[in-house]
Amino acid sequence: MLEMSGISLLNKLARTHALSVEEYETLLSCFYSELIEENTLPCSLSENTARHSNLAEEAARKAVEVRQVYYGTAVFTRGLIEVSNYCKNDCLYCGIRKSNKECSRYRLSLDDIYACATEGYDLGFRTFVLQGGEDPWFSDERLREIVSTIKNAHPDCAITLSMGERTRDSYQRLFETGADRYLLRHETASFKLYKMLHPEEMSFENRMRCLQDLKEIGYAVGCGFMVGAPFQTTHDLALDLKFIEEFQPEMCGIGPFVPHHATPFSHAPAGSVELTCFLLSLIRLIRPSVLLPATTALGTLDSKGREKGILAGANVVMPNLSPVAVRKDYELYDNKICTGEEAAECRWCLHARMKSIGYEVVVDRGDPALRVRGNKS
Ligand code: SAM
Ligand code: FES
Repeated sequence: MLEMSGISLLNKLARTHALSVEEYETLLSCFYSELIEENTLPCSLSENTARHSNLAEEAARKAVEVRQVYYGTAVFTRGLIEVSNYCKNDCLYCGIRKSNKECSRYRLSLDDIYACATEGYDLGFRTFVLQGGEDPWFSDERLREIVSTIKNAHPDCAITLSMGERTRDSYQRLFETGADRYLLRHETASFKLYKMLHPEEMSFENRMRCLQDLKEIGYAVGCGFMVGAPFQTTHDLALDLKFIEEFQPEMCGIGPFVPHHATPFSHAPAGSVELTCFLLSLIRLIRPSVLLPATTALGTLDSKGREKGILAGANVVMPNLSPVAVRKDYELYDNKICTGEEAAECRWCLHARMKSIGYEVVVDRGDPALRVRGNKS
């Protein structure tokens, strides 16, 4: 078979929204070979120096074009409330893993959470993301109380939960209480890599089961992965893209891996901003209507990372609404940005950043687009 060039694979992806795993792998290899002479693992791209890639430029151009059709230049915001950094899990990459004894643990009270939501509402947020470690204190009863209180206070808002793996019954009850969306990164679509990033007691099958349950129940579901995670290969990333193509998530959170000093991966190199942006473009082409954040991790590795993410095809930003007193403690990785700023500062900072690149942060729930803009049928 004649080997296809990067550009022809990109054209095929834009036209059909699908490629084979082998084709995704070839596309990624074409991207690397433009940046470095020899094709090696993605982690070798970790210095984040500005390098030129015609392929990435073309992917971004196509991604922006297709996003324009669905969302114009609107950027949706989600007010992120980091409710707890207690976690019963021990993911090897994560700064709030249970084995990290240096981590100063906190849990927001229900009143703290309501105060964050009220402040966020006044700042123009119409989606709240409640995220936390897997903290059993957040039982179904407590979470239901939180969801229904916020929904009653702000009926025009959407609630996204990102509270990790739970039972199907739990997801069902929370959905019936009014939770609209659920973010649960699949972390990796490779069983082999999953095993290398997680302790024995955690299960790839259970994570996939959770995502399937969430979808069947009716949530708008977000999956996602880290770019440049330790041991990650081009083939692993190709599997991630194929998974996204098949799972068809409404949201997709990807960000570069950033090492945390008190984890087993403290010395692993960070992921690449350029590769993350290229992947954002590919994901936009796979799933044109996807809600795609330019993540805090991207902004942590590059002061213009979130702007670069939007210019590569992302359309969501997630400023922090957590109380400043606890922000530093929700430290998934080192040097996380926005840990000293008040919610209002982050809101206006992102507003200005988006404006500087010709985009507009809108006051909107930011639901997934069901049809293209301007098409009333
Ligand atoms: N407990 C919930 C869950 O498991 O989905 C939500 C919180 S979890 C800490 C949020 C995400 O942070 C994870 O899905 C992971 O991809 C990301 N993350 C953790 N450690 C990271 C690191 N060192 N660098 C970049 N992202 C990281
Ligand atoms: Fe938080 Fe810029 S988004 S300070």
